[in-house]
Amino acid sequence: MGNLIKEVEVKTNGGPEKILWKEYELTKPKNGQVTIEHTFIGLNFIDTYHRSGLYPLPLPTKLGMEGSGTIIDKSSEVSNFEIGDRVAYVMALGSYSTHRNIEASKLVKIPEQISDKQAAAILLKGMTVEYLVERLFKINSSHTVLFHAVAGGVGLLACQWLKHLGAKIIGTAGSKEKAILAKKNGCDEVILYREENFVEKVKYFTADEGVDVVYDGVGKDTAILGLDCLKPLGTMVVFGNSSGNCPPIDPNVLAAKGSLFFTRPTLMNYGTKREDLLHSSDRVFEMLSNNKINLNIDSSYNLSDVAKAHNDLQLRKTIGSIVMKNNY
Ligand SMILES: NC(=O)c1ccc[n+]([C@@H]2O[C@H](COP(=O)([O-])OP(=O)(O)OC[C@H]3O[C@@H](n4cnc5c(N)ncnc54)[C@H](OP(=O)(O)O)[C@@H]3O)[C@@H](O)[C@H]2O)c1
Repeated sequence: MGNLIKEVEVKTNGGPEKILWKEYELTKPKNGQVTIEHTFIGLNFIDTYHRSGLYPLPLPTKLGMEGSGTIIDKSSEVSNFEIGDRVAYVMALGSYSTHRNIEASKLVKIPEQISDKQAAAILLKGMTVEYLVERLFKINSSHTVLFHAVAGGVGLLACQWLKHLGAKIIGTAGSKEKAILAKKNGCDEVILYREENFVEKVKYFTADEGVDVVYDGVGKDTAILGLDCLKPLGTMVVFGNSSGNCPPIDPNVLAAKGSLFFTRPTLMNYGTKREDLLHSSDRVFEMLSNNKINLNIDSSYNLSDVAKAHNDLQLRKTIGSIVMKNNY
């Protein structure tokens, strides 16, 4: 093919300075693969866990789980995609690159009304919200939820989706600016959890009843305390670790606090079987196309700025979804 591609490589775990670039000749796609030229790459918190080693991967490793772009080549086995199709994918390591070969079974076509940039900004985070609120727990208008880090990428999409389903939403956020944006996106009450005791505030907002579900992507700093925000038979969903891993939980504590349910779900389990991928991505694209959810995109980063983007995400400086343009 003769295309020189650029790709991120991490040889040793650590901070954003461990993100290195390498160049090599792109090979022909084989065995059900296509070649994509990326237009945009979605940045997700999981990328920082892969870089730091919180989620250990064999080294050296590629980085990045989400991207969008155009198919520029395909192997003979691929019949459901054509060269020129605009496509996106999630949960396929290696999106921090100008081009890549990838199994066609991991791809979805981007609908005409949705741009590549929107697709890379929404797919992984939107599919996460879809399974959290429509499958893991079927939210309806009788439910009150607590959603942590509600002004983040997943958080702002969750606010709007939960509102659409009629739930009452209590969110937490790290700054006043984030709280204002969360309210604009449908959050009923926002707790500034770096200054306020979120357990007491949840009790206040629910007249001591507690919430039906806690969605916690923060982990270490909030997950155990969050059990005290639940009603009896409530559900604790720890779906991430932006502050570090959730400590182990004794099942007897769940009994003592009201026969609580505790789950630690992943998009890998809810969204990568082909039927789940299609169902979930269709729901996300439909919600976006019908203006049931809007995207808050921070698009101030190019792919070449990826180390800075990691730094800003981990320092809690970013709001909403981050996409990086392939500027190489
Ligand atoms: N299990 C799954 O299927 C799945 C899928 C996708 C994402 N996730 C998880 O969902 C969470 C959100 O992902 P995202 O990509 O949308 O990220 P994000 O929410 O945009 O960024 C993480 C946010 O976490 C909050 N935070 C609290 N303590 C923090 C700390 N010590 N260091 C850094 N941030 C801290 C910050 O918001 P405040 O300043 O407002 O506190 C920060 O902005 C992550 O935990 C991610 O791993 C899980």
